[in-house]
Parts: sequence; C-alpha cells; structure tokens
Amino acid sequence: MRRGMKRLMLVCMCVLGTCACRRTLPADPAPSVLPVPRSEIYGGGTFRLSAATPVVAVSDDERTAWAVGALDELYAAVFGPEAQPRRTDAAADGAVRFVCSDAMEAEEYRLTVDPDRIEIVSGGPEGAFYAVQTLRQLLPRAAFSGADAVEIPCVAIEDGPCLVYRGLMLDVARHFFTVEEVKRTLDLMAMHKLNVFHWHLTDDQGWRIEIRKYPELTRVGAVRKRTLVGRDPGGEYDETCRYDETPYGGFYTQEEIREVVDYAARRFITVIPEIEFPGHAVAALASYPWLGCTGERYEVRQTWDIDDRVFCPGRETTFEFMEGVLEEVLELFPSEYIHIGGDECPTKMWERCPACRARMVAEGLTRPRQLQGYATARIERFLLERGRRLIGWDEMLDGGVTPTAVVMSWRGTEGGVRAARQGNEVVMAPTTHCYFDYYQTADTVGEPLAWGGCLPVEQVYSLDPLEGLSADERRFVRGVQANLWTEYIADFEQAQYMLLPRLSALAEVAWSLDRKDVAGYRSRAERLRGLYDACGYRYARHLFAD
Ligand code: ACM
Ligand code: ZN
Repeated sequence: MRRGMKRLMLVCMCVLGTCACRRTLPADPAPSVLPVPRSEIYGGGTFRLSAATPVVAVSDDERTAWAVGALDELYAAVFGPEAQPRRTDAAADGAVRFVCSDAMEAEEYRLTVDPDRIEIVSGGPEGAFYAVQTLRQLLPRAAFSGADAVEIPCVAIEDGPCLVYRGLMLDVARHFFTVEEVKRTLDLMAMHKLNVFHWHLTDDQGWRIEIRKYPELTRVGAVRKRTLVGRDPGGEYDETCRYDETPYGGFYTQEEIREVVDYAARRFITVIPEIEFPGHAVAALASYPWLGCTGERYEVRQTWDIDDRVFCPGRETTFEFMEGVLEEVLELFPSEYIHIGGDECPTKMWERCPACRARMVAEGLTRPRQLQGYATARIERFLLERGRRLIGWDEMLDGGVTPTAVVMSWRGTEGGVRAARQGNEVVMAPTTHCYFDYYQTADTVGEPLAWGGCLPVEQVYSLDPLEGLSADERRFVRGVQANLWTEYIADFEQAQYMLLPRLSALAEVAWSLDRKDVAGYRSRAERLRGLYDACGYRYARHLFAD
C-alpha cells in the first residue's frame, strides 16, 4: 500500500514538474538582435519574465505610454490576451523599469537585463519603444506559442540608429490594401525599427484617399473597370492582351486615414502621404476632366506603363484643385514631409496645350520640362507657408528644383548625390537596392510574377547610401527607403513575401550602417525568421539553408 502511494506521488510530482518546466521557457541558446545594435554583451544567467513582472515607468506622458504599451502587447502575445503588466512606482527589484536620460538622443537606448531586473534607459519614448522591440527578439521563440514565464538572457545592449529616415513605401493604388493589412505592414516596420511609412495613395490606376471637396476622386477615380492580366507589354495593347473584366477599387475614408496615422504614431512611425503631381494623374483626370490639357474624359487606367495624360500646369484651376486636396491632406497627416511624386511625367500634352504654352511664355520658360519645376515650386510654396516640406522623386531635379525640396533618389543614387552636392536633403531609394517589386532570385521559376529585375537580399544589404559623398555632403542624406510597387502583387501574402526578409537587410543598412557585416547578418536573419514564423508572416527562403 505504502509503495503504491509513493509511486503515485512520484508520478504526480513528475507530471507537475514537467508542466512547470514546460511552461517556464528557458532562454534560447544563441539570441541575437537585428538590426545589429552598437554593442551587445551577453553575461551569465537569465531574468525570469512572467505576467506578474511589474513595470515601473518614470513618466506618464502620452508618448511614454505608447512605448510601455508595446510591452503590454508583448505580455499579451506571450502570457495571454488578459495579461497586463502591473504598473508600480517603486524601484522594485524584479521589475521592468523605464528611465529617461538627457544624455541620449531620443531614439537611443540602453537595455540591461540582470537576473533581478530589466532596465531600459532611453533619450525619448521612441528609444524606449525600440528597446521593447529588442527585448521581443531576446525572448525564446517558443514564447509566442504561449507560456507562464520565459527566461531572458542577461545582456547589456547599447543602441541607436545611424540614419534618421528609415522608410518603406507601399503602393496602394495598383493593389489596394485594407486598413488591417496596412496595420500589419506597420507592425512589420516596427519590428525592424523603421520609422517612415510612405503611403503612395494616388496613381493612374486608382485614387485611394477621400477628399471631401472633390468627391468624384473616390466615386470615379477609385475604381478601374478591369485590369490587365499578366505582364504589361509596354504600350503595345492589342488583341493579345487579356483583361480580367472585373471592376477593381477601394479607398480610405478620412476616418480610416486617421486611424492608420494614429496606429503608426503609437509605433513611432511617421506617415508621409504621396499625392502624385503632375504625372501619374489619370485617375484624377478621369474624375475631373478639366484637370487635363484637353478636357477629355478618360477611364481610370487599366494597364501599367507610363501615361502621357498628366495634370495641366497651364491652368489656374489645376493649382486650385491641388491646394484644395492638400488642405485636407495636411489636416489628416501631421508629417513634416508631404510627398508630391513628380516621377515619370511626359511633357507631350503640355507641348500641344495653349494654356501650357502661354504659361511658358508668361514665366519665361524655354523647355516644357521647366513647367514641372514651375508647378512643383508653386506647390512647395503652398506647403512651406503651412510649415511643411515638399519631398518628391528625383525627376524634380530635371525641371529645376528649389534648394528646400527633399529629393527621393530612385533612378540609381546619382540623383541623390547630385542633390546632396547642391545642398538638397536626400532619401536614397535606388532601384538597384530598394525596389522590392523585383525578383529576389535570378532563377524565377516558381516565383510569383514580379516587375522584373533581380534584387537578392544580399544586394539590398550592400547598399551604401553615403557612397561618393564627402563628409560635408553626407549630412544631407537623411536615410533610405524600400519601395513596394504593386502592379504584380496579387494579395497581402505576396506583399509579405516580397518584403521579407529583404526588409531586414534594409533595416540594417538604415539602423546599423556603420557596423554592417554580411556574415553576421545572415545568422541574425536566420534567428529573426523565427519571429516571422511566430507572428505568422510569410517570407522568401532564398537566404536560408532550407
Ligand atoms: C518610380 O519608381 N517611378 C518612382
Ligand atoms: Zn496644359
């Protein structure tokens, strides 16, 4: 009898014991952080984090609350949706403690994990937010399947970004992404410590932002009747071209825009809207024909290549329209920078347009291309008067650019170099390294249809946005940006596949430019991939062994 009891007790202890150690997850053996921090020194031992671990936040302003909110999300992801860390004022041991430091820049942080506490010291709430992102990467990967407690390795991390502008552009004109999908994209950006979401809201194939003064933009301009199937033959649209014969549309209400801007702000991401001007205008012209040089009524574009039908800079009504649109855009987006496109704008319509020719005479312009410089400078003046800065694609340089405009260099880095040399601020986003609509491998068999090109993740990683610039000129390079154009993106799954893991390479260029190493990056990316899996993101596997 006593022997039976003993065996029963042993079985119980074993079961309980197994339960207990299964639910306190041990630290992973070789954690690492991507983008690579300035310094990362692992010590012995671990800190045990559980739902009962309290949080000490020295400040209770709104932005600090956002940073601490990221920790709330972490607790919920690991310990269950109800788990909320208890706030305490005491400098208690066993807590996660947030501290501000005047000696640091806003985005800098120091994260110290000791056996008896975690301390996050940062220059501002954004630094604290990034520290929480780092902490998330230090958790055992299995944590995201749920646990009662997790062990985090003891470590001292000092960190801060190299570049202030760390961007991602998403084209929602060619493929429309829902608010939920945009938020998931912002989550991805936060994971990679990116801080600028460039939202490409208007193009030939769709106008995607509600403008109350001009309701036709979304009633007419947000829907195309059908879409080309397969690759665009580049202007040769004959009977061999096939269309899906399905209306395609979507737009964001102003309320939804506010929701996205707020969601981004809580992740310390600025949203820069792009309203294309004077090119890529067919959806606008389809809505209001008087915006074009001929006044003809067009259909929203159904194919992908560059279109001659652009805004007429000869007419005052075009500027009244743009200012009306921008008035509402400025209400919605607190961003200092407002993107007005400026790329791929043929001058063919302008050459034949009496209003445009009269404008050239009145302004003393000798080349039609200078009309673009004239139009852009007018819009810039409007923005500057309202305390905003104009940013546009590098074609702006060809029409004569003002000294205060910010240039986004996409046709290689040459435009950016030229702009920096003449004292314009620059964001580098060259096709050679930053166009994530390009294939990720030379062997495209089995790959989803893409724009073309070949941009493997290693090539993204090799970008040096400061190359060819003197120390003085480098001051003008604000940062880098990945661009996801979506002509050939079928859904959000495919968007993720095109972004990942290339976004992690871009993140290291942006955050860790002065400490990049490709071998280390490969192993960090391999580990980060576990987080992609845990969060359910889809990614390409060319970089990985399997
Ligand atoms: C661009 O890719 N047309 C900026
Ligand atoms: Zn005109």
